[in-house]
This record gives sequence, structure tokens and C-alpha cells, in this order.
Amino acid sequence: MKLKKLTIGRTELPGNLLLAPMADVTNLAFRLLCRQYGADLTYTEMINADALLNENRKAIMKGLATAEDRPFGVQIVGNSPESLREAALFVEEEYGPEVIDVNMGCPAKCIIRTGCGSALLRSPELVYRIVSGLVDALETPVSVKIRILEREEESLEIARLLEAAGASTLTVHGRTAGQMYSGNSDLRQIRAIKNELSIPVIANGDIRDEESAENALEFTGCDGIMVGRAAMGNPFIFRRIRHYLETGEKLETDPQAQQFGDFEAYITLLEEHGLLSSINLRMHAQWFTKGLHGSRHIREKISSLKDANSIIELMKTSCKEKA
Ligand SMILES: Cc1cc2nc3c(=O)[nH]c(=O)nc-3n(C[C@H](O)[C@H](O)[C@H](O)COP(=O)(O)O)c2cc1C
Repeated sequence: MKLKKLTIGRTELPGNLLLAPMADVTNLAFRLLCRQYGADLTYTEMINADALLNENRKAIMKGLATAEDRPFGVQIVGNSPESLREAALFVEEEYGPEVIDVNMGCPAKCIIRTGCGSALLRSPELVYRIVSGLVDALETPVSVKIRILEREEESLEIARLLEAAGASTLTVHGRTAGQMYSGNSDLRQIRAIKNELSIPVIANGDIRDEESAENALEFTGCDGIMVGRAAMGNPFIFRRIRHYLETGEKLETDPQAQQFGDFEAYITLLEEHGLLSSINLRMHAQWFTKGLHGSRHIREKISSLKDANSIIELMKTSCKEKA
């Protein structure tokens, strides 16, 4: 049994499989689906602290969380200790999440241009002020998600500083910001960080199936693993990984039926939570058909469809044909 319990802040989770925060992906409906398949903790998409405090609060709050989606974490992004603190206090009061995460890993140009995300890793003093300020102000435990830096010693320095500032958990994506998504996630650096800290460390990057999940846990000795891209259009990955870590056996499934079926369930959840019009459904439908045998023509058809109903109709018909 390789699945282990994990305590994040004050919350003991039955397992250590986490869904990564992903902008335009981990909306409430998608998180509920991943949870149903065994994700022990889910994170919202990153929320810009300034936007939450200013013009976009209403849009951000629409369908952000419900009582069924627990335990969950809200991720915030920003670079001002004051705005981050104010935004986090608002999130705490409004949603009471189990953990509030600070994004210190996003490498996107629009984020680093404003000194946020992975740009923060270059300013250790500011990193300390942000995290210690949040820890002092909040009742909620604070976690941080980082990318590694070029030199292992630099990554260890930031990791030590985050622990000293009071972070309750650290998630490490084993790529530098400069790598974006190229190369492989460096499990050696993640292992070095895990060995350096006393707080739980979560390994992230390139966990895409049963073996890579097991390998990341065993090689790094980390307390948990976080799955990102491999869950896009494939929330069932959590059931597969979980089953494998629990039993050592792989689940025999028909990915075709599974992914089409999951897309239908996803649409139902989006509708239930009033989120259907907030997402790019065509993009999500493409993810749910990715890699499936003979799905090329469906994907081509999807890209020519404009409205949600036609996409849903097409997917339903395809589901029946494949059944
Ligand atoms: C579409 C997309 C959106 C993402 N958005 C976020 C985000 O909002 N916050 C964050 O910390 N990381 C974000 N990430 C990074 C993932 O959380 C994760 O660290 C990264 O994809 C590596 O894990 P993986 O190999 O399992 O995908 C995003 C990644 C993708 C592909």
C-alpha cells in the first residue's frame, strides 16, 4: 500500500493525491469530477489578488466553490504583501478553504511581467514578507507552489525560507521557469528539497500514469503528488493511480467509454453550477477526446462548432456510436 495519509495544515486527508491548480481547467465542476475519482485535495485556478480586490470580484466568485468540494485549496497570485493578505482574508471569510496557496511558480509572461508567479523566486526578502504576513494574518494554513531554480542550492534556500516564514506545505514543480514545459521534471531537486524540510513536500511535474506516480513518490520520498496536465480531459486518472498505489494492480478500463462518459458528467456538473457559459467548451471537449482511438474526425468536427449545444450533441452521438 503506497498511498499514504497526508496532513495539510490541520486537515488529515485519506490519501496523498492532489489535483494541481490550473487556470482555465480546474473550475468547480472539474474539481468535483476529480474528487469523485479520488483526488484527495483540489485547488482552484489561480486568482489574481488585485482583481479580487477590485473590478473582477463578482466574476471570480461566480461558481468558485461549494460545500461539496471539500477539502479544497484556493490559490492566489500577486506580489504585494498587502493585497495578497487582504485577498486571502476575503477568501478565508467567504469560503473557509482548508488551505490558501500562493502561486510562486507561474512562468507565463503576463504574470512574471508584473513581478508575480515565478518572478517572486528572485526576491527572497519579498517572498518571506508575503508568506509570513499571510501566516500572521490568517487562521487558514498557507501553502506555496514553486518551480525549482537553476542551481539546487538556490532552490534549497527558497525552500528553507518558505518553511521559516511559516508555510505549512510546499509543492515543487521540478522545472525552472525558463524551461516552461520543456525537458523533464527534475525529481532529484525535488528530493533534495524534501530532504531539507520538515513540512510536507508535494512532488509535481510529469505524473501522467500509474508508474510515474509511484516513481515520483518513491524516488523523492515526498509526502504527496500533484497531477496537472494528465488530468485534463481525464479525471479518471485519479482512480487509476489510486487503485495502483493501493493494490499494485492496474485497472482494466475502456478509455473511450470512460472519457466520453466523463465528458457527459462534466457537462451536467457545469450546468448544475451555472458554469457552462464561463468556459471554452470546445477546448475542454478536445481534451476529453485527446488520444482516443479514431477520435481525429470528432476533434476536427469539434473545432468547427461554435455553440455549446452542438458540441454536446456531437459528443453524445459519438459516445453512443462508441458504446
Ligand atoms: C493549462 C494550465 C494552467 C495552469 N495554471 C496554473 C495555475 O493557475 N497555478 C499554478 O500554480 N500552476 C498552474 N499550472 C501548472 C500546473 O499546476 C503544474 O505545476 C504543471 O502543469 C506541471 O505539472 P504536470 O506535469 O502534472 O502538468 C498550469 C498548467 C497548465 C497546463
